Amino acid sequence: MRVLVTGGAGYIGSHAVYQLLEAGHEVAVIDSMVAGNAWAIPEKALFLKADISDEQPVKKLLAEFKPEAIMHFAAFVEVPESVREPQKYYENNFTKASRFIQMAVDAGIQRFIFSSTAAVYGTPEKNPINESAPVLPINPYGASKSFTERFLFDLAQIGKISPIIFRYFNVAGARLDLKIGQARPNPFHLINVASEAALGLRPKLMMFGEDYQTKDGTCERDYIHVEDLVAAHLLGLQYPLEKGKAEIFNLGYGHGFTVKEVIEVMQKLSEKGFPVEKAPRREGDPDSLVADSSKAQKILKWKPNHDDLELICQTALNWEKKLIQIRAQNKV
Ligand SMILES: NC(=O)c1ccc[n+]([C@@H]2O[C@H](COP(=O)([O-])OP(=O)(O)OC[C@H]3O[C@@H](n4cnc5c(N)ncnc54)[C@H](O)[C@@H]3O)[C@@H](O)[C@H]2O)c1
Repeated sequence: MRVLVTGGAGYIGSHAVYQLLEAGHEVAVIDSMVAGNAWAIPEKALFLKADISDEQPVKKLLAEFKPEAIMHFAAFVEVPESVREPQKYYENNFTKASRFIQMAVDAGIQRFIFSSTAAVYGTPEKNPINESAPVLPINPYGASKSFTERFLFDLAQIGKISPIIFRYFNVAGARLDLKIGQARPNPFHLINVASEAALGLRPKLMMFGEDYQTKDGTCERDYIHVEDLVAAHLLGLQYPLEKGKAEIFNLGYGHGFTVKEVIEVMQKLSEKGFPVEKAPRREGDPDSLVADSSKAQKILKWKPNHDDLELICQTALNWEKKLIQIRAQNKV
């Protein structure tokens, strides 16, 4: 299949590009490089450096490459930044995304796979969370994603597109062969931050809050290995579409680990250990976010292969070591 991947130079998008090429698909990437890395795009993929909302080059690519499916990863992804700069998030994740989606509709593309997030659920009433839980985001990032979901539902209702919406829980880890991984400077996700602390790239790890309603008082999250997450997207390419229908699937493993549990694993994997500093809880961190992903397992026949916190942490740590060399070679 010919698949267009937006945000293909970023963390999850680049893993998708690799898996798609390995499965024999033809791939084109659009990325503005606002947060992407050129070295993350394999030579076999066609690459257009452009903003998703930039009509002239995007329409040209749609006309020439003629994608049969689109995977839309391009977005801004930092929750704390979205709180400080909401306009930036609504503009990129909703306004620009909706312009791009309209171009896809005009090009007649039905199979549209959208990266959404558990942040659309806000603070859920119960865990594990299934896809019918209320959408009540508590930050601009989650809200910007939920608006784009809504636009896709509206288009689906009039038969213009058949979106598959994946709501990701906490994506972590790297490809086992370490060709790519998370490479954003100043990461903010726990496993990346802990990997940096384990390698002495930051002096300490901050642990926010010990008064949550969880087994040890620290926040609990459902960590999913990026390769399993991306595998669900490839299954989405085979899913029999029904015109006018939108499908939503949660992606997580269905069980969570607390901040303390993740730190314990990272301390064990690190050579020298690292200091941890306790700090008060942060605004807007729900106690627990755990996915009920039984729908993806049943309907898409999705079978995770890397449901193992130690493996997730080890690949993240190994990747972080490799990233030091890549950054030195690329002088970034
Ligand atoms: N990382 C996670 O844990 C997580 C969790 C839930 C959902 N998601 C979603 O997954 C998707 C990918 O996230 P990621 O972690 O790989 O982020 P990332 O920042 O590593 O990758 C995003 C890529 O999109 C590109 N991009 C951003 N805006 C663009 C635009 N307007 N035009 C063209 N390119 C643009 C960036 O340059 C970057 O390469 C996002 O949609 C995000 O909301 C991520």
